[in-house]
Amino acid sequence: MEQELQSLETEARQNLQSLDDKSLLEDFRVRFLGRKGKFSTIMRQLGTVPAEDRPRVGQLANSIKAEIEKLFEAKQQLLEASPDGSRSHTGPDLTLPGRYPAPGKLHPISQVMNETCAIFENLGFSVAEGPDIELDYYNFEALNIPAHHPARDMHDTFYVSDSVLLRTHTSPMQARIMEAQQPPLRVIAPGKVYRCDSDITHTPMFHQVEGFLVDKNVSFADLKGVLTVFTQKMFKKDLPLRFRPSFFPFTEPSAEVDIACVMCDGAGCRVCKKTGWLEILGSGMIDPEVFKMVGYDPEVYSGFAFGLGIERIAMLKYGIDDIRLFYENDQRFLAQF
Ligand code: DAH
Repeated sequence: MEQELQSLETEARQNLQSLDDKSLLEDFRVRFLGRKGKFSTIMRQLGTVPAEDRPRVGQLANSIKAEIEKLFEAKQQLLEASPDGSRSHTGPDLTLPGRYPAPGKLHPISQVMNETCAIFENLGFSVAEGPDIELDYYNFEALNIPAHHPARDMHDTFYVSDSVLLRTHTSPMQARIMEAQQPPLRVIAPGKVYRCDSDITHTPMFHQVEGFLVDKNVSFADLKGVLTVFTQKMFKKDLPLRFRPSFFPFTEPSAEVDIACVMCDGAGCRVCKKTGWLEILGSGMIDPEVFKMVGYDPEVYSGFAFGLGIERIAMLKYGIDDIRLFYENDQRFLAQF
């Protein structure tokens, strides 16, 4: 009987070891520990054991029953703890953390574009969009750049036909809007522009925002005021501005606008080529010739215009030294914005 008890313990232990489903626990309990189970069956022979051996066999039986009960309870706890009551890995493990797709974001160029538009909208400008495929007339003629004018050479134009091209700047929107509406006007025109050019600071397609304001008594001081607010808001710093005399056929006088270098605060560094200044846009007072083309009286109205490059601003804002990074769609780059 002692041997039977010992082998019962071993059998129970093995059974429990391979038991991996909560629903089988009760079956085990009945089979081994129940009133008609294996343990009770063995115990029924106790009467046949010689009287002097009985205490020892009884003690062994008690400790083996306690051991089996202990193993059973441990197993019970283990199986109750796992949520689907099973340790078999046939289904998903609901305790694992979930996998979720990385959230999408706006491209840094879209972010800077939206921010630029929002700043000017807060200053009372409204947004107008025009065609990427443009007539030579609006891209050049109406902006005081007639055929064979040397200023055309600076534009590296993609021509579709003699009179149709991919716009090289957003300035044609000045002519389109003025032709269709009367002053006062306060408009920004964001969009894609195209030039046959490609290196670390140029891509064949890039983004500009054109802005212009036409009314009576508009002065260069108004232009300065608007651009000062824009640069302060965009770069979140009270940056000094510098207006450098320049030439554009559609503005007179014209100026290129520099901001104090955002990298070195004007001290001089690699980014500003030791000058302390960074060029960010072209601007000026709208040329009377442009007003005449759209039928405005230059004696009555005046206005300013400016055109800024979004990639350029984004590069300065985020300290990016190669424009092509914007268009390679490397997630490691894009995820930083
Ligand atoms: N359209 C010019 C360019 O792409 C930028 C520009 C200069 C726009 C002066 C303007 C302006 O409105 O007044 O280079």
